[in-house]
Amino acid sequence: MQQIAWTVSLTLMGIIPLLFLWVTMGASRPQPPGNPFRMRGAVFWVTVITGLAITFATLAPWPMAAQYGATNAPDVVIQATGHQWRWELSQDTVQVGQEVEFQVTSADVNHGFAIYRNKTQLLTQTQAMPGYVNRLRYTFTEPGEYEVLCLEYCGLAHHAMVAKIIVR
Ligand code: CUA
Repeated sequence: MQQIAWTVSLTLMGIIPLLFLWVTMGASRPQPPGNPFRMRGAVFWVTVITGLAITFATLAPWPMAAQYGATNAPDVVIQATGHQWRWELSQDTVQVGQEVEFQVTSADVNHGFAIYRNKTQLLTQTQAMPGYVNRLRYTFTEPGEYEVLCLEYCGLAHHAMVAKIIVR
């Protein structure tokens, strides 16, 4: 999946300078008659609608469960604090089927608290903000090792903010 995203991004990044080059080279040509902007409104709306459709299609299931209205007590509470550049978890082992509430905060700058499976599949995420606690509930349905990565660029060793959660 990341290989595909990488290839698509590079291809599009390659096309944009070519388009600029094509427009620049055509600047001295006489313009064809008629309103050159007649397609602009249609192109705008096609782009917006296509972008929204792709966003919704590729974000399902939404990696952020509804966090409101939970009145039951969670089975496990884990305090998760982001530091430059590591995660501090009050506990790193849970059981399958337990509802876990992550109480996420930061000791310094904004971090993104994201739980991944196999470092590629984003399961759920929230912001880790200094002076504020975000509550994130999640129930692991399969045993295994999960990774906590940082989703918000937070400085030089941002990529090194990795922790593990073990689900038995
Ligand atoms: Cu912490 Cu990026």
